Amino acid sequence: MQTKSWLKAGLFAAVATASFAAVPARAQGALVMYCGVQEEWCRAMSTAFEKDTGIKVAMTRKSAGEIYAQLKAESANPRGDIWWGGTGDPHLQAAEEGLTQEYESPVNKDLNDWAISQWTAAKKRSIGIYAGALGFGFNTQQIKQKGIPEPKCWADLLNAKLKDDVQVADPNSSGTAYNLLATVVQLMGEDKGFEYLKALHKNISQYTKSGAAPAKAASLGETAVGIVFIHDAVVFAVQGDPIKPVAPCEGTGYEIGSMSIVKGARNLDNAKKFYDWALTPAAQALAAPAKSYQVPSNKNAPVPAQSPKMSEMKLINYDFVKYGSSAERNRLLAKWDKEVKALPK
Ligand code: G6P
Repeated sequence: MQTKSWLKAGLFAAVATASFAAVPARAQGALVMYCGVQEEWCRAMSTAFEKDTGIKVAMTRKSAGEIYAQLKAESANPRGDIWWGGTGDPHLQAAEEGLTQEYESPVNKDLNDWAISQWTAAKKRSIGIYAGALGFGFNTQQIKQKGIPEPKCWADLLNAKLKDDVQVADPNSSGTAYNLLATVVQLMGEDKGFEYLKALHKNISQYTKSGAAPAKAASLGETAVGIVFIHDAVVFAVQGDPIKPVAPCEGTGYEIGSMSIVKGARNLDNAKKFYDWALTPAAQALAAPAKSYQVPSNKNAPVPAQSPKMSEMKLINYDFVKYGSSAERNRLLAKWDKEVKALPK
């Protein structure tokens, strides 16, 4: 007897539903995600992945330097599965030190060259997920009150009238601030670069933990200038706050925000599922609604309209291999602690 196709379809649907329902949600497992960007974007990514896959995500947000330090501390007994976001330098150091593991995603073929260059530099242990240029944001009202010209260059931040009125993060915890340290050394040379950082120190009111915090402070008028990735200043400019984003005239560095699977991840299969999912255009399109205007690494992902135009900026040829190496990052951070942070205000 020929079973009616509608009956077959119904039976199939019933079986499928039953089998899906029979598989308890916990069967999709869990994922421990260390997230290195702003909370809102971290939350958007973990919620969307959980919704798409049924995998329960335990997400914590930290700065890039902090996540690197946590992976190092936990290396004998890894707690995390995936490190998503944050500047590429600490991801490269973690890769060199074997804290993360090789993986080749089928989505690699759709990524921009700069994302693959991070993957190659990391010997397949990290990959580019977004890019953004370094710069600063200044509070237009504060600058007007000080009666100084609007800052356009790194050199302008040394103006004595900006004493205690510039904020940047601490490069030990913040990937943004380490990117500044490495950018200044590459742009000016190490000696002149450290002379610059020592002079800038006089104008720094505080070294924050998080890299994007100075942008919020500048938007609120708590500081006149915040040194951040330009897209972090754009977040506040587009909502009408009195902050102007600047790509410094001398030239500037940029980041390749990255993603890495933790070596020894307990939920390795789910980490790979997240990794592949996070590289898709749909996942990367979650950035803009989360007020994150970095340039996505998937060529088919939409570039947010608010994204700073990196092609119009004077960018240095940032040496990610050198400044993401364990020896160089440790050396520069120690030198900065000794020669800059220790200086009296
Ligand atoms: C912000 C930026 C990201 C950057 C991250 C680094 O989220 O928007 O592009 O990767 O800061 O954070 P951190 O606190 O380590 O400087």
